[in-house]
Amino acid sequence: MIKSTSIAPSNIAFIKYWGKKDSSLKLPLNGSVSMNLSGMTTTTTVEFKKDFTEDEILIENDDRKKTKDRVSGHLDKIRQITEVDMKAKVVSRNNFPSSTGLSSSSSAFAALTLATVNALNLHLSEKDLSILARQGSGSACRSIPDGFVEWLEGEDSNSSYSYSLHPPEYFDIADVVIVVSDKKKDISSTEGQILADTSPFMATRLANIKDKIIKIKQIINKKDFSSFGQLIESEALEMHAIMLTSNPPLIYWQPGTINIIKLVKKMRTEGLEVYFSLNTGQDVHIICKRKDVNKLEGYFRKIEEVKRIIVNYPSVGARLSDNHLF
Ligand code: PMV
Repeated sequence: MIKSTSIAPSNIAFIKYWGKKDSSLKLPLNGSVSMNLSGMTTTTTVEFKKDFTEDEILIENDDRKKTKDRVSGHLDKIRQITEVDMKAKVVSRNNFPSSTGLSSSSSAFAALTLATVNALNLHLSEKDLSILARQGSGSACRSIPDGFVEWLEGEDSNSSYSYSLHPPEYFDIADVVIVVSDKKKDISSTEGQILADTSPFMATRLANIKDKIIKIKQIINKKDFSSFGQLIESEALEMHAIMLTSNPPLIYWQPGTINIIKLVKKMRTEGLEVYFSLNTGQDVHIICKRKDVNKLEGYFRKIEEVKRIIVNYPSVGARLSDNHLF
């Protein structure tokens, strides 16, 4: 095969990845736990040809040289493994806004990895695909396996990968993403992560994080939604506390972010059990029970600063598709 297409989901981390112990291999300071998102995907087609003289990379809504260089660098890594020296054409499309903090790099590098590996006829295990995707963007390794996923911190490249804790249908929850602005973030998570250990609170975070991972897995095993919600909210705020106290500080929130957080808390006092999570960006992920999605959507549709609502259910990981983009 020389041409291949993959679709991969973005993911939301319940216990977050923030800070690396090796920036080039993208080895994290701690493990993390996430869920793949059905409504936010990247589709990528990769084709290799002997007569291509250079990589041609077309990413919808992102013409930046630094993005193209990062994609080419990832292709180089896979070319090295397969000892192929052909250049490639890559076309990639997201069905959601990119670079606004919705973790588009996770779906993008998971889709790119699977499509490239398949185009070059490389047969890799899920573990090895996850290891390769991680080197494109850390969180991308969690978009390879299905459903609810743990990324093991590991000690080296070979032991830092993701695997599925539970299939998508295991826990009946949803992630309703409230987009409050389409503005691209000023500082990417790659740049932001470098600052993690300038926060005086990072040592405390790392001292407690292993226990948190054990706890979230126990809670998901029990499907205890209330404990789950409380833990993921405090984890999202803890990560932002690290960002806010980094040097220089990282302030990803917009006024709309705070307003939505406050509305989530208000909804709880009114009897609708919903919780929030945040990534590097202004948009808010609202985690609810599947049965409450319509009520939640109806409520937020009336709020002025809501630009867009994306409903997600737990999803399978990266997979191949016959619908090539070119
Ligand atoms: O993989 P990156 O470099 O885009 O980092 C993602 C970091 C967070 O989304 C903020 C947290 C996470 O675990 O997804």
